[in-house]
Amino acid sequence: MRGRAILQTLPKSPASSNTSLAPLVLAWWADNARELPWRETRDPWLVLVSEIMAQQTQVDRVVPKWREFITRFPTPSSVAAASPGDVISMWVGLGYNRRALMLHQCATQIVEEHQGEIPQDLASLLALPGIGPYTARAVLVFAFERDVAVLDTNVGRVLARVFGRTLTPREAQGLADELVPSGRGWEWNQAVLDFGAEICQKRTPRCERCPIREACHWRGAGPDPAVGTAAASTPQSPFVGSDRQGRAKLVARLRDGPAPLADAHGAMGFADDPDRSRRVLDSLLRDGLVILDHDKIRLP
Ligand code: ADE
Repeated sequence: MRGRAILQTLPKSPASSNTSLAPLVLAWWADNARELPWRETRDPWLVLVSEIMAQQTQVDRVVPKWREFITRFPTPSSVAAASPGDVISMWVGLGYNRRALMLHQCATQIVEEHQGEIPQDLASLLALPGIGPYTARAVLVFAFERDVAVLDTNVGRVLARVFGRTLTPREAQGLADELVPSGRGWEWNQAVLDFGAEICQKRTPRCERCPIREACHWRGAGPDPAVGTAAASTPQSPFVGSDRQGRAKLVARLRDGPAPLADAHGAMGFADDPDRSRRVLDSLLRDGLVILDHDKIRLP
């Protein structure tokens, strides 16, 4: 269903005309925008890297890693010319290292198929490894200033609450696109991301300070319509003691160079559990994050 059609099926809220939402959110944002370094650039590669980093890692932790990464890898060509292991090494500390491997594949494809330039249309962006609907739209809006809407868990939550019901991914994307004020897509999307992070928070919504409270169906009372909505996040399981932590430890160890296979168990912290150790190492080998080379393991 297109955005406008969806809007007509939704209950009208007291202050809504939906056209009134954007000025209120933008006015709030004028005083409350977070200062993030990737907002100072429109270079599509730098924007792409920031968005991939920010997807599963808190923004505060992303900022210093983004600066380091783009200094070492300022272009897709610089990544394509490096080994996957070099990119993984720069990624350590951000978690979910598979993203680094995907970014290497993505950069390689950009060089091979697009002369090293990030494509400017949705279909070509979506065809790149590791680029899904969120990231593709983020590049279009935050680098090329196109009037499209990003939909992530924060945006989905805001929409579901304002409109007062759970939304399918198609509905949420249609609504998000419909709300973009013409010619102001860049600001609007940045504003909604900040609004979701600072006001319409998942667990502790700040309804008392909310600039669109009057237009909101939910207002913090009753069941939260964001639960079960499009792009709602699945909570991350605890990191300490997890397989993920074991994976991260081994990858971090291999930054210093190859290691004897026999050392893998200790490096992961699973020396007393060989079955688990073998299973987790297998998962790293399967993902291509680690390579077995005779009796040594190393980054690819
Ligand atoms: N999370 C992902 N992208 C972001 C951005 N551009 N600003 C703030 N938070 C984000």
